[in-house]
Amino acid sequence: MNHAEIEPITNVHRLAFGDAEGPEIAKLAESFLALPDTISISAKRAGKIVGNVLFTPFVFQDHPDAKCYLLAPLGVLPEYQGYGVGKEVMETSIEHLKSIGTDAVFVLGVPTFYPRFGFVATEKQTPFPDLLTMPEPWMELALKAKSAIPLSGKTIAVEPFMQPHFWDTSGRG
Ligand SMILES: CC(C)(COP(=O)(O)OP(=O)(O)OC[C@H]1O[C@@H](n2cnc3c(N)ncnc32)[C@H](O)[C@@H]1OP(=O)(O)O)[C@@H](O)C(=O)NCCC(=O)NCCS
Repeated sequence: MNHAEIEPITNVHRLAFGDAEGPEIAKLAESFLALPDTISISAKRAGKIVGNVLFTPFVFQDHPDAKCYLLAPLGVLPEYQGYGVGKEVMETSIEHLKSIGTDAVFVLGVPTFYPRFGFVATEKQTPFPDLLTMPEPWMELALKAKSAIPLSGKTIAVEPFMQPHFWDTSGRG
């Protein structure tokens, strides 16, 4: 990670997610960027970072050799939203994740956005399965035609993400 990019990236997430959620998501992004295995993909316009997505390792307890990531957060600066930046970072990311042999990517996100990149609702567990009160936002993108092992069972996200409130969908409508 280029240290000069930490501030612009956290700033993108702070502004993208607005006053209510932005500060907490920016803090989460900063903690992810401090982890060695985080993958960060940004889009620039006129040399400035205007969009970013982070991927952190996502572990199936019974399948430690599976290479999976959790997508979060994804943000685009408000004034650049609606011009293809989100699409660009998603497409670049998927190519990169494929190239490094990723088995699957997971996201707890907007069910109208991610399916356009191939994500589908999944029955695999979140780290807090009891808090997933609606199935649609929890999605998976399988990147290998056939995974060596069918993934199942308990899952673990990186430590800053192992807080129940991030996984509780009961407040979503
Ligand atoms: C969601 C977000 C990342 C999309 O980035 P963007 O640069 O505005 O998106 P793009 O312009 O690349 O749009 C790509 C496509 O997705 C659609 N799209 C954009 N935002 C969408 C949303 N929230 N829900 C559904 N579709 C959406 C666009 O209409 C476009 O469709 P098209 O290709 O058929 O024209 C951005 O709006 C954002 O940062 N939002 C606030 C933070 C957030 O909600 N992040 C995702 C949390 S899961």
